[in-house]
Amino acid sequence: MRVNAKGAGDGTSRAGATGAKEVGRGSTEFARGVAEVAHRAAFLPRSIEWVGGLDGFVSLIDQTLLPSRLEILQCHDVDTVIDAIRRLAVRGAPAIGIAAAMGLVLGVRDFGVGIVGDARNATDAFSATDARNTTGARNVPDTHDARALLLESRRIADRIAAARPTAVNLFWALQRMLTFAEAQQHLPAAELKERLLAEAKAIRDEDARMCRAIGERGADLIGEGCGVLTYCNAGALATAEWGTALAPLYVAHERGRRFTAYAPETRPLLQGSRLTAWELSRAGIDVRVLCDGAVGALMRSGRVQLVITGADRIAASGDTANKIGTYSVACLAAVHGIPFYVAAPSSTFDLATPDGERIPIEERSAEEVRGGPGRWTAPPDVVCLNPAFDVTPARLIRGILTERGLIEPVKGERILAAMG
Ligand code: MRU
Repeated sequence: MRVNAKGAGDGTSRAGATGAKEVGRGSTEFARGVAEVAHRAAFLPRSIEWVGGLDGFVSLIDQTLLPSRLEILQCHDVDTVIDAIRRLAVRGAPAIGIAAAMGLVLGVRDFGVGIVGDARNATDAFSATDARNTTGARNVPDTHDARALLLESRRIADRIAAARPTAVNLFWALQRMLTFAEAQQHLPAAELKERLLAEAKAIRDEDARMCRAIGERGADLIGEGCGVLTYCNAGALATAEWGTALAPLYVAHERGRRFTAYAPETRPLLQGSRLTAWELSRAGIDVRVLCDGAVGALMRSGRVQLVITGADRIAASGDTANKIGTYSVACLAAVHGIPFYVAAPSSTFDLATPDGERIPIEERSAEEVRGGPGRWTAPPDVVCLNPAFDVTPARLIRGILTERGLIEPVKGERILAAMG
């Protein structure tokens, strides 16, 4: 279900711009939402949140429509969430993780009402663990126990996990939910469902706190008059609130610092020009969009003093996967002697992956390259490469900003000490 939210690009009032009323909250919730505006980023609705109780839904900004339209997508079932992740209606590593956790709740909340699948047939990552020693869960009645719910959770988690391969937050969030469910399997299923919802909400709230902390720690990297270049969108839209790479910009702006943000458009899906420019300008930050190919010349002109990007997965070595083109930006920054920082919460670190070579890189449809902006940008039958991410080696990264502090220099032992 879709709900229009007022204010896409039109500078509407702050309370109106939260979209709280538009998603149909009750008046008490709406009043609380307005009060929250006083102490959180007030320039756009929450990118993703759960509305209501266990019978509620996931509400998310459909990022495919920005900046033309600000629309809220209401997800009432797990398939809608999986589809939203696949087609980038919800995107950005932390937001994908939150969507996965909330999608899992949608997927299991009605479990036990009808016929369910047989977990013994499961072969995928999350469900296979328990498939060996279960008696199966077919025709589970309303009175099924939490153990059967756990098996179903694993089956649903496998389906969500297949949506996108690179952002580790997706797998991190699902694993956290399953580990939580395992520890609570002595509870009645109804109680466990409520607790899973609370856990999914906690993942969202923790992400907001981590992003705020990244912003507080990173704000002083941005000096008065600084030119700061980011890439793709690692802002409030991509997280629970504030963003990762953009959080220092929001905090510096709050502190009255004047600076200019540069947002390369980020082909092929234009997350930089459509999303970063949209959210920064709504917040009143001076932002300039440029073609991706103009980054080198801009750096050479001396207008960029700092680069901060987000991350989809940081390996144990510090090698970092992020939106395709990030590596080129890092190389250009190195050539021009500009410090290149990555900002990411602990949920984006993957210490089980030793280095960038082992990070799975999503390959997306050629149509995004040939026809992204709505008309042919290449011959319709030409072969296109469309890797969605690339890996920036640790040696090109000056430091990694996290909620736990700045990791600098970027070395495996430093990462282990901070995240292990
Ligand atoms: O394909 P996307 O738009 O999901 O890619 C997003 C990025 O590469 C972001 O920089 C990354 O996920 C960090 S978001 C805080």
